[in-house]
Amino acid sequence: MYFAVLWKNKELSMKELEYVNPKNLHVSANQQIVLFDEADEGKLSDLAWLVKWWKVIDWELSDFFAKAEKRILWVSDKQLGIKMKKQFWLKRFKQVDLFHTDLEVKNKWIELIKIGSKWWEVLWYQNIKLYEVVDFEKPWRSMQMWMMPAKLTHTLINIWLSIDKEQTLIYDPFVWSWTTGFLANYFWYDFLWSDLKLTFADKNYSWWKDWKWSTPDKEFKFFVHDATKDYEDMSIFNSKTPLIITEGWLWPIIKASTTDEQVKEYQRWVKNVYLPWIEKMATVFERKPVMVFTIPWYIWYENLLEHQIIETAEKVGFEFSSLQEMYKREQHKVARKVIILK
Ligand SMILES: C[S@@+](CC[C@H](N)C(=O)[O-])C[C@H]1O[C@@H](n2cnc3c(N)ncnc32)[C@H](O)[C@@H]1O
Repeated sequence: MYFAVLWKNKELSMKELEYVNPKNLHVSANQQIVLFDEADEGKLSDLAWLVKWWKVIDWELSDFFAKAEKRILWVSDKQLGIKMKKQFWLKRFKQVDLFHTDLEVKNKWIELIKIGSKWWEVLWYQNIKLYEVVDFEKPWRSMQMWMMPAKLTHTLINIWLSIDKEQTLIYDPFVWSWTTGFLANYFWYDFLWSDLKLTFADKNYSWWKDWKWSTPDKEFKFFVHDATKDYEDMSIFNSKTPLIITEGWLWPIIKASTTDEQVKEYQRWVKNVYLPWIEKMATVFERKPVMVFTIPWYIWYENLLEHQIIETAEKVGFEFSSLQEMYKREQHKVARKVIILK
């Protein structure tokens, strides 16, 4: 048995969780905690939108502490901590919140919780370091341009994995700062990328390929390309139908002074990229690719784009779905909406 704490954005968490195919899933009333009987532990440790997960301890606690290398624990309850410390000759205990992501606890401590008569141990914490490296340590980034958050990109990959398990090639046709590239390479996929211009992607890629976490034997290929146009040379795809993970055009930034009319015009620009691109994707490969991508969602304004995407996608034979929940940061006036075409 397992239980896990979900990150905010519950719908995104639940969608991503489909990848691990949890058996007998129960969701808490506040939708922050999920309990399930079985799941692939390797895959569980690949999830982006879980904070951490626990597994029930099904052997004697004294055996557990005899074998455990880390002899300090975290417990949810102080009295219990005092009792455990005495009983098992532990050096220390610490009391932290169920939702904590404290690095010291992660790296050095055993984290346990007692619920009813059962003890549970945390076996995995979210890989925040990876997201920090990709979001903040890559050498080439610009606040003038939207950069897709690494954690969200990772979730999009997992959403795809729950749909199409055969592909090994990820393609981002609007690559900009190469966020998809970092994640694709870290998780052992071949990666192909294009954009109207490749300056940032090229530089970030050069930095990453020497980074300790890169997987150098995975394929990288790139080319300059307008996503609304035909491909000059399809051989770059090696007869494969790639998975499309991307965030296309979100520009420009919406300010307090932006009018309804301006937002409509921005949406027309965005539409003029997304619609012809979706039509192209439906026809250029041997079969239709699975596409998981984000579109801009204008808070407080009428949104026209999703409806137009549905029309176009269905016209060219894609099955359309989207998450109702928006991905948004506090100060943003444009949220992201996740679209899935298959
Ligand atoms: C919001 S950025 C993408 C962010 C990127 N996913 C990242 O994480 O950094 C949009 C990108 O779309 C590219 N773009 C806009 N129109 C395009 C088109 N017609 N064909 C190809 N790329 C285009 C821009 O050059 C820009 O790099």
